[in-house]
Amino acid sequence: MKAFRTVRFLSLKPQQHLIRRQIEDAFSDALDGAQYIMGAQLEKFEQQFADYTGARYCVGTGSGLDALMLALKALNLKPDDEVIVPANTYHATWLAVANIGARIVPVEPDQNTYNLDARNVKNALTDRTKVIIPVHLYGQPCDMGTLTQIANDHKLFIVEDNAQAHGASWKGRKTGSWGTVNATSFYPTKNLGALGDGGAVTTSDSKIADFVRSCRNYGSSSKTAVEMIGINSRLDELQAAFLNVKLKFLDQWNQERMLLAARYTERLKPIEGISVPSVLPDAFHVYHLYVIKAKNRDGLKAQLASAGIETMIHYPIPPHHQKPYKKLIGEGREFPVTEKLASTILSIPLYPGMSDDDLDYVCEAIDAFYR
Ligand SMILES: Cc1ncc(COP(=O)(O)O)c(C=O)c1O
Repeated sequence: MKAFRTVRFLSLKPQQHLIRRQIEDAFSDALDGAQYIMGAQLEKFEQQFADYTGARYCVGTGSGLDALMLALKALNLKPDDEVIVPANTYHATWLAVANIGARIVPVEPDQNTYNLDARNVKNALTDRTKVIIPVHLYGQPCDMGTLTQIANDHKLFIVEDNAQAHGASWKGRKTGSWGTVNATSFYPTKNLGALGDGGAVTTSDSKIADFVRSCRNYGSSSKTAVEMIGINSRLDELQAAFLNVKLKFLDQWNQERMLLAARYTERLKPIEGISVPSVLPDAFHVYHLYVIKAKNRDGLKAQLASAGIETMIHYPIPPHHQKPYKKLIGEGREFPVTEKLASTILSIPLYPGMSDDDLDYVCEAIDAFYR
């Protein structure tokens, strides 16, 4: 067994070290530009991120939550309209639906991929269903072929929540380009993270892009005329400048994540008591998180902590057990697959720049627990 060490769940320092000079230059450029909101850096980022995703337009926003809300607002939903969401997701997906006043319809995930199960989506359809929100959880794309087919058959919109899957693809087509309108987050820990809050909407529909561009800017696309009741949620110039730098490294960092994940999978697969992530053949998984299922998860988590290894649970309390959502979807709703996941999953350290030595130390500690 390797000597005791501390393994952080995530460190942004290796990334920061690699691009420090470029970030400092980007800061200087933005400072020199002296236009801190809606300037050239934002325009450049929106173009580059649209090109990267394969959607025609990108509109920067203040956060991923705002991006989701703006995307849903663009679809002009009515209060009784139903939006299908995964039961296990970060609750921001639900929060966006709650905030625009539509109905949250949670459905159970597939217990192996942790992502939306298309059969459950079909079973949840009613004549009020308007939208499906696939969340590409932990970096693995949902089965977008089947979900798109369901949406087409029933005349529904798809709004991808792409917060955790920058650079992922399904059958070679990138996430963030499948839905009518899609949302993403650049929260600092994401695969493409800003140095603060940020988000974006992507779409290939020019009318939707125009709507979001106006709505994020007080409902106004000019300095004077107001077209709608909007909000103030813009991606600021500094964050856009940093993201322009970081976007150039995204593929490289995703490759690193995938290599680390492959090493984990090889080492952990033989351990009885552990299930490694199950990846569908058509999925290009970018490992925002490496999430295992573990027998005696809490015991394992405690032992790893005593070995100096930080782990996390994404997410320990599913949204349907959180007070405000219980009220919205009705008390006593049961989602056994989601609950089972919440009590067995464990996210273990993985980030670009993590050393193989640290990874091996984590694997040894997990192995020791089950031996
Ligand atoms: C799946 C998912 N959706 C939405 C969000 C919200 O993004 P933000 O934190 O930028 O508001 C997050 C992350 O934070 C997320 O993981």
